[in-house]
Amino acid sequence: MSRTTIGLTPSLYQYILDVSLREHPVLQCLRKATARHARSSMQISPDQGQFMALLARLMGARKVVEVGVFTGYSALAVALALPDNGTLIACDINDDYTSIARRYWQEAGVLHKVSLHLAPAAITLQRLLDDGQQGTVDLAFIDADKEAYDTYYELILRLLRPGGLVMIDNVLRQGAVAGPPSDSTATAAIQRLNAKLHTDRRIHLSMVPIGDGLTLALKV
Ligand code: DHB
Ligand code: MG
Repeated sequence: MSRTTIGLTPSLYQYILDVSLREHPVLQCLRKATARHARSSMQISPDQGQFMALLARLMGARKVVEVGVFTGYSALAVALALPDNGTLIACDINDDYTSIARRYWQEAGVLHKVSLHLAPAAITLQRLLDDGQQGTVDLAFIDADKEAYDTYYELILRLLRPGGLVMIDNVLRQGAVAGPPSDSTATAAIQRLNAKLHTDRRIHLSMVPIGDGLTLALKV
């Protein structure tokens, strides 16, 4: 019996990948191509992608929102787990990054499930609400500008159905969240959001130490 979470050495993390990773060939190509990108550290880890895809299947998710697409790895992992009539509403402002994403979504045969909105995500999410889509989203992933996470969280909470799940990336900030209030506006914003969610009675909460930390918030 263990009273704490195991720390992962590089060899133990490699073992996890060796015995559990089942990466779609197009996901693997995308991950390797993105590793050469200047902002490659923004890509989620493959085990995190597989975990998120499993959650999508577990929930029977059909309508998903992603805020922060980058080159599309997490969106592809989740889109592959959606039924053929499922929809992933992908929000980003960067045409260069998402044009890479689109190529791989096409190659993997999931492009028809993805609806890409190239606009500030708060505007896209508000538009969905104005359009009457409150309470219709099964699953969401927040992985964009950290200073705006709380704005995205509040909008997504309204879009989610009761029992819907929002996953929030980078909630551990490479460990920096455990220090004093950060000088980094991004880390400080995550620290405030983590503290807020701790006492937020609108959700059931779990903070999972996968990747750079993934918070799961299930709408009551
Ligand atoms: C950064 C952003 C991310 O979403 C991430 O997963 C890793 C790094 C960043 O802004 O540096
Ligand atoms: Mg991230």
